[in-house]
Amino acid sequence: MKEFIFPRFSREIEEELKEAGITHLLSAGKVKVNNVIALGKGKTGVVALTPDLKVIKIRRTDSPKSSMEMECKYQRSAYPVSPKVFLCGKNFILMELADGRELSKKPFPEDLKLALISARELEKLKVQHKELSRPWKNVIVNENKAFILDYDSATFKPEPKNVTKILSSIPELRELGIKYSKGEIDFEKLLDLIYLYL
Ligand SMILES: Nc1ncnc2c1ncn2[C@@H]1O[C@H](COP(=O)(O)OP(=O)(O)O)[C@@H](O)[C@H]1O
Ligand SMILES: [Mg+2]
Repeated sequence: MKEFIFPRFSREIEEELKEAGITHLLSAGKVKVNNVIALGKGKTGVVALTPDLKVIKIRRTDSPKSSMEMECKYQRSAYPVSPKVFLCGKNFILMELADGRELSKKPFPEDLKLALISARELEKLKVQHKELSRPWKNVIVNENKAFILDYDSATFKPEPKNVTKILSSIPELRELGIKYSKGEIDFEKLLDLIYLYL
């Protein structure tokens, strides 16, 4: 487990994880961290698989955020669009595995449709996700649903704009995004029209 504490080792983080019962992690995924393999690595965390196939995001020791407690709060508020949170600490979030693949930069219409539905659900929960202008980093899709990950810079807003953020990230859909944000087409119409544009 020590190897996943990155880029510097931290006794404090190791102790917190041990107290939460996390002593071993699987070396699996696509990102090399120290001498092990992780599911993911971003600017705030290292993400790894536990032996019982849950996911743990461990705070990077060089993260701009000194605690993950706010991220945990927003992620809980975003469920079931977000992976379910099981347990949080200052330095970790233990959560459900988002089973699927990352949204492609040129997504299939079916995948994009699921991503937009999840983005719309987040809006109903009043959560504004701050990193959907690069959705391929933070959306994982399978046959049934799209998970939206990474709430480290999320906020509550009366009228969040997650759908338009995703649309503006795809050049073919920018025009459609403008029509949608002006209210010229509704959400259902938008879902029908993406098949014509992609
Ligand atoms: N619950 C999860 N299930 C599967 N993969 C995940 C999960 N959470 C994160 N990941 C993977 O780890 C990567 C980094 O996680 P993220 O929360 O975006 O970290 P950061 O805040 O450091 O950017 C994601 O892009 C994704 O590939
Ligand atoms: Mg990220």
